[in-house]
Amino acid sequence: MMPLAQLRAQIRETSHGDEHDCVDQLLRGNTVTDTQRQQALELARDLVHQCRQRHHQAGSLDIFLQEFGLSNDEGIALMCLAESLLRIPDEATANKLITEKIQSGDWGSHLGHSESLFVNASIWGLMLTGKVLPLAPDITHNTGHWLKKLSSRLSEPVVRTAMLQAMRIMGNQYVLGSSIEEVCRSKAPKHTKKEQTESNNRYCSPSNLFSFDMLGEGARTEQDAQRYFNAYAHAIEYIGEHNEAGNIYTANGISIKLSALYSRYEYAQRTGVMSVLLPRIQRLASAAKSHNISLSIDAEEARRLDLSLDIFECLARDPKLSDWQGLGFVLQAYQKCAPLVAQWLITLAEETGHRMMVRLVKGAYWDAEIKHAQEQGLADYPVFTRKVNTDLCYQHCAQLLLSAPLAIYPQFATHNAYTLALVLALAEDNTYEFQRLHGMGELLYQQLDKQLRPQQGSKPSIRIYAPVGEHRELLPYLVRRLLENGANSSFVNRFLDQQLPIDALVQNIEPQVMAVTPYRHKNIPAPPDLYLHAGEPRLNSPGIDLANPQSVKPLLAEIENARKEHHLGGPIVAGQLIQSSTRLRPVTSPACNNTIVG
Ligand code: FAD
Ligand code: 2OP
Repeated sequence: MMPLAQLRAQIRETSHGDEHDCVDQLLRGNTVTDTQRQQALELARDLVHQCRQRHHQAGSLDIFLQEFGLSNDEGIALMCLAESLLRIPDEATANKLITEKIQSGDWGSHLGHSESLFVNASIWGLMLTGKVLPLAPDITHNTGHWLKKLSSRLSEPVVRTAMLQAMRIMGNQYVLGSSIEEVCRSKAPKHTKKEQTESNNRYCSPSNLFSFDMLGEGARTEQDAQRYFNAYAHAIEYIGEHNEAGNIYTANGISIKLSALYSRYEYAQRTGVMSVLLPRIQRLASAAKSHNISLSIDAEEARRLDLSLDIFECLARDPKLSDWQGLGFVLQAYQKCAPLVAQWLITLAEETGHRMMVRLVKGAYWDAEIKHAQEQGLADYPVFTRKVNTDLCYQHCAQLLLSAPLAIYPQFATHNAYTLALVLALAEDNTYEFQRLHGMGELLYQQLDKQLRPQQGSKPSIRIYAPVGEHRELLPYLVRRLLENGANSSFVNRFLDQQLPIDALVQNIEPQVMAVTPYRHKNIPAPPDLYLHAGEPRLNSPGIDLANPQSVKPLLAEIENARKEHHLGGPIVAGQLIQSSTRLRPVTSPACNNTIVG
C-alpha cells in the first residue's frame, strides 16, 4: 500500500483520467476465478427466476415504474413532471407544464399492456387517486372517453393538485415516515390488507436493521443547515436511546449527507468547510459513538469527493472518536478513482486503528456527473460511460474491501441479483452485510433470504437505508430513485420483464466489457469533443476544474504572477498608447478596492 498522501495525489490525477486506461487496468488486475463467476451466474439466474415466479408480489409502484420507464415518451413525461412540478412557483406555469406533458403522451397505449391489474385499471387513477375523476368500471374499454374528459379539465387547479398528490404517492414508496419517532414505533399501525401488501417492511420491526437518512441535502442557507443538523442530532439521540442491540453491527445506524450540514460545501470554500462543517459532523459522530451506533457519510457529487476525504480523515484521526468501529464511508464504483479511494480507506483504517464501515454502491448521480462535466468543459468525466465498466469496478472494489477484514467491514448496497450473487461468491467466510433502499429490492432480498436459509448461521444481514422526513425535502432523492427505476440500463427496470430472457439479463461482466474497444461509450464523447461528435467543427470551450486542488493550484499561481504585473492604460491615438506622466490615476481591482492593478 502507498502512503496516504501519495494515494490522495493519485486519486486527484485519476479522477478525470482516460476511461480506456482505467478499464484496462481493472481487467489486468482481475482475479475473479471461473468457479466464482459460475457460482454467481447460477445463483443470480435462480434468484431472478424465483422472483419472476413471485412477481405479482412486487409492489404496485414497481410495476407502474416498469411500465412507465424512461424508454417511452409517457415515462419521460412523468419523470419530467416529477422533477419540475414541485419547483414551479406559480400556478399558471404549472398548468402549462401539465397540459404539455399530458397532451404529448399516448397514455391509452399503456392500458392493457401490463399484466398488473393495478396498473391496467388505474394508470390515471393512480395519478388522480380516484378522487378527481372517479374511475368508471369499464375504464379499460373506454379509455378515450375518460381521457377526453380529463383533457378538457386540464388547466383546472384540481388536476395540478392531483399531480402533486401522485408525486406524493411515489414519494411514499421511498420514505419510511415523517419523523424518527414515527418510524421507530415498535408496533406497526394497523394497515388495511391492501396497504399491507403494498408497503412491505414499512415500519421498524425488531427483525429489521436500518440506516436512517434524515431527508434534506444541498443546504442553501445557514438556517437550512441548522435545521438538518438538528434533525440528525435528534435522530441519533433517539436511535441511541432505543438501541437494544448487542453490538454495532446489529444496531440501527444513521446516514448523513455532508451537503446538508453546510451551505457552501465546495472546494472553493474549504476554509469555511473545515471550520464550520467539520465541527458539526464531529459532534454528530461523537453522539453516535456515545450510543455505539454507526454513522455513514453518504457519497454525493464527484466534485465533493476531495473535501469529503479531508473531512473523513479528520474524523478518523480525532482522538475523541477512537475505539469506535462505527465510522462509515460510501464508495461509488462508477468513479474512475474508486479503487484508489478503496485503498486509501484501507490504509487510513490501518493507520488509525479503526475497523471502518464502507458501503460500496455504484453511484446515484450519473446523469448529473455527465452533464456537469460537459457544461464545465472538463477534460473528461469523473465516472465511467458504460454501465458494465462500473460493474467491473464494483467487482474489483468488492475484492479490495474483502481483502482487508481487520480494517474494513464491507456493506454491499445493490438491487442487482448478479452483483449480490457475485459478492456472495467472492466473500467466502468474510463478515459483511448487504444493504437495500427502503421501497426497493424487497422481493430480491426476500428470495435471497429463503435461498440462504439452510446456512442460517453464516447469513449476511440485510440493512435497509430508510429516508425519514417531510415531503418538501424529498425531491432530489425522489428524482434519483425515479431515474434508477426508469433507466432501461438499470437492473431493477428489467428485472421482472418476462419478455427479457434471464440469460440476457444476467451475464458475466468481463466479456461484456471487452466486447467494445476502446472501452468508453461510443455515443458519449469526452466533454472537449462534444460538438465535434455532433458534427460541428469546433471543440467545446475548456473549463478549469475548480473542485480539484491539482488544477486550482496552477490557476492560483498564475493569478499570483498576474498580480505582480502593473498595467498602464491611456488613450490610443493612431495605434500608439499616449502616456502621460503627470495625470496618472490608480486603478483598483473590482474584487478588492485596496488592490491597485495599474
Ligand atoms: P444496476 O442496475 O446494476 O446499476 C445501475 C447503476 O449503474 C447506476 O446507478 C449507475 O451507478 C451505473 N450506471 C448506469 N449507467 C451507466 C453508464 N452508462 N456508465 C457507467 N455507469 C452507469 N448512491 C450514491 O451515490 N451515494 C450513496 O450514498 C448511496 N447510498 C446507497 C445506499 C443503499 C443502501 C443503496 C441500496 C444504494 C445507495 N446508493 C447511493 C444508490 C446506488 O448508487 C444505486 O442504488 C445503485 O447505483 C444502483 O446499483 P445496482 O447495483 O442496484 O443496479
Ligand atoms: C441517495 O440519496 C441513496 O444516498 C443515496 O440517492
